[in-house]
Amino acid sequence: MQISLFLSVITWAFALVPNVQCRAIFAHYMVGSVTEQHVKIDIDQAQAAGIQGFSLNIGDPSKSFVSDTLRYMFAYAPTVGFHLHISMDIWASGDATGGHPELFNKLLNQYMHAPGYFTFNNLPYVTTFSDGGLNHTTWATWRASVPAHYFCPNFDGTAGGMSGDDGWWFYWGDYLDCIFTWESAWPVRPGQSKGSASQGSIEVDLTLLKSARARGKTYNMPISSLQYKNAYSTSVYREGDLTLVKRLLNIVSLGPDLAPDFVTIITWNDGPEGHYVGNIWPEQNTDDDPARYVYAGTRWDHGAWRPLIKAFAGAYMSGTIGMLPTGNTGVEGAMWYSGVMKSSVCPSGSYVDNWEAGGDQVNFAISSSTSLSNLEVRITSGGHVAVYKGIGPGTNYAAAPKYPGQQLLEVFSGGTRIAVAQGGRCVSSQCPDRIYNMNPIVVGIHNPNSAPAPVLCEDPVCANPNVSPPSIQVRNASADPSSLHPKVVTDHITPTHPIACLPRAPV
Ligand SMILES: *[C@@H]1O[C@H](CO)[C@@H](O)[C@H](O)[C@H]1NC(C)=O
Repeated sequence: MQISLFLSVITWAFALVPNVQCRAIFAHYMVGSVTEQHVKIDIDQAQAAGIQGFSLNIGDPSKSFVSDTLRYMFAYAPTVGFHLHISMDIWASGDATGGHPELFNKLLNQYMHAPGYFTFNNLPYVTTFSDGGLNHTTWATWRASVPAHYFCPNFDGTAGGMSGDDGWWFYWGDYLDCIFTWESAWPVRPGQSKGSASQGSIEVDLTLLKSARARGKTYNMPISSLQYKNAYSTSVYREGDLTLVKRLLNIVSLGPDLAPDFVTIITWNDGPEGHYVGNIWPEQNTDDDPARYVYAGTRWDHGAWRPLIKAFAGAYMSGTIGMLPTGNTGVEGAMWYSGVMKSSVCPSGSYVDNWEAGGDQVNFAISSSTSLSNLEVRITSGGHVAVYKGIGPGTNYAAAPKYPGQQLLEVFSGGTRIAVAQGGRCVSSQCPDRIYNMNPIVVGIHNPNSAPAPVLCEDPVCANPNVSPPSIQVRNASADPSSLHPKVVTDHITPTHPIACLPRAPV
């Protein structure tokens, strides 16, 4: 009796655990007006950053730009080994009335089995933005109305949807294969319940991941730089600052067994929300409201975050923990900051909800190869210098105090300046955009000989360095242990497959 009970428990446990683990990195892509040439550039650049596919966010499937963009996407993606899947924006579906998954059936039927469509366990992968307020019966009915698929919806708006508790799974468990949330990507806002405890922390994700694995399901984990939205009647800020790099490092530090099955970068191109890492194309959005803080061109380009994503992709896909630069050579990285000071005075109404959570700080992340050690990073912010010593292999990060004026990052190796980040917009003590603009300035690091020139400051206070006397602060791992991430070093294994499938131990 004892033995047969034991065996039946074992059999039951194995039945619940899928026998392969796949890992894939997607980027959430807002489907809008875009030229075919720009679609190809988006795919090429995403792939170069270690991203395997786009999660195509579609609001109203009947729009002509949706059919055009999907036609360009599916014509090109399979020729370069890139993967696509549909993310039904149930919040916006049916021209913003929401709650109509059936409106997507025609599009799903058209593309679910097209070359380039992402499959998991041989099933086309489908996700959502929001649950649309529909109950499980309605979702079950909808699922039966389209061909078999792997369903990984974002149902974090349902009661208990972020808890991973038995009650939630009892209600929803039979109706989905995988769970996904956006909310854990950012810290929780004061007075709100959804989000992570702190910048980049992953405790909510671990709860959800383990609750999914215990039931033979998978978890799609979000990563995002921040959320800053000051348009379309939405006013919100969620950090921001070190969230992105901390989350990336926290994910890879989980090791191969607890690595999430899927990671989705939020987003590739959602300009008005501030969290894009890809291109803002001029044909996509010409509205005046978001143009106060984001438009096509170099000023608001966030592409310098992509080397960090690439370093993450190398570690995550291969199951190692060292986030190393391309080819494990030299250094890569970026600095980023908002262009105003907390003391800047902007028109009332232009400060978004929770703006106070943003720091007066210059954030940076540097990925260094295993052949470099004891590097020094020097941040010069409005004439004030902060020095970070003892930086070694892997990805390191810190945040220096921010002052109005030019911002400069320099990396030194044994006294030689090997990289700089400069030429990003100056920080203003005033309010040059007439809104409290928190869309980050993201500046990539370059060889000193090929770096863009420093820029002049449009703000007359910033242009006059006399307002703040320069000072030098030396910070290092021992003087300021919390500000410099401990270095992680492992042998780097180059992924051999774009989508790695590895045996997984049950959690
Ligand atoms: C689920 O929603 C549908 C559509 O609103 C409704 O007809 C049905 O009664 C609901 N089912 C349950 C069990 O609440």
